[in-house]
Amino acid sequence: MGNAGGMGVLGPNAGQTVVTRDAEGTAENMRAEIRKVRELTDAPFAVNVPPTQGREDIYTPPMLKVIYEEKVPAVVFVGEPDAAMFAELKEHGVKIIYRSLNPSPANAREAEAAGADIIVATGFDEGGTLPDMTLGTFSIVPLIVDAVDHTPVMAAGGIADHRAYDAAFALGAEGVYCGTAFLMSEESRMAANVKEAVLKANAKDLLLFRTIPAYYRSLPGEQANELVAMDKAGAANEELGRKMGGFANLRIGMIEGDMDKGYVSVGNGISHIHEVKSCAEIIAELTKNYKA
Ligand SMILES: Cc1cc2nc3c(=O)[nH]c(=O)nc-3n(C[C@H](O)[C@H](O)[C@H](O)COP(=O)(O)O)c2cc1C
Repeated sequence: MGNAGGMGVLGPNAGQTVVTRDAEGTAENMRAEIRKVRELTDAPFAVNVPPTQGREDIYTPPMLKVIYEEKVPAVVFVGEPDAAMFAELKEHGVKIIYRSLNPSPANAREAEAAGADIIVATGFDEGGTLPDMTLGTFSIVPLIVDAVDHTPVMAAGGIADHRAYDAAFALGAEGVYCGTAFLMSEESRMAANVKEAVLKANAKDLLLFRTIPAYYRSLPGEQANELVAMDKAGAANEELGRKMGGFANLRIGMIEGDMDKGYVSVGNGISHIHEVKSCAEIIAELTKNYKA
């Protein structure tokens, strides 16, 4: 990703293959992944830090220690702004890319005041954990751009071709934050049968269901179909969340390729992905109207 001109982000459980409560082990796996990245590129990269907020967080302290020791250049901080943690990150020279799960003018301004270097405005078109307000990318990006004073905003959610990339800049963003587009790259470890299924699908094929914290979407499959049926029958979000079984089922669906036992979480941008390409080719396509 870095060698192709983008900035890669290591996910919060990078290098982890089993569900664990071992916070130190999770952080040490991250250290190994950070070192692998450094062997592959001199380009800057980030580590995703999603602190558990409102209850005990065993994972973030050892992870931050590794981030400081390994001199990681940037974090993508997910959650509500945490002024004390932002100050600590800045003391260690780590750049803060701030991303709220529920972006709002208020939390964007709070993040800016706490020293975020970049703010990501994520719309409901995204893949992964969806915001609780169903504001699409076209609605949320200018709202956040107008809310902040001097902090650059990146647009996220459904950006998978140069038209969406250009639109993000027209809305006032100064960069884009993409997930789905690169899940579909040659370099991505997503299973070949899942990539094939995504190529055949468009946004209308994606199932949407309520869960914890708000909504999720998936390509159809036994589990996903059942969640939609439970949702329609009026099941509570907590019940749907329990049935969904957490992120381990994403691994089963997306990496192991069992689309009935697991989920395939992708964003609405899949309508515009017609080929599996290298990261370099994807970035060239996204930015084709922005040649230096
Ligand atoms: C399978 C999957 C897992 C994700 N996990 C995370 C995560 O751990 N942390 C995070 O900040 N965002 C996560 N996201 C959200 C992506 O960052 C999101 O895709 C991105 O904001 C842009 O949306 P896009 O997928 O439409 O490009 C995930 C997305 C997907 C599709």
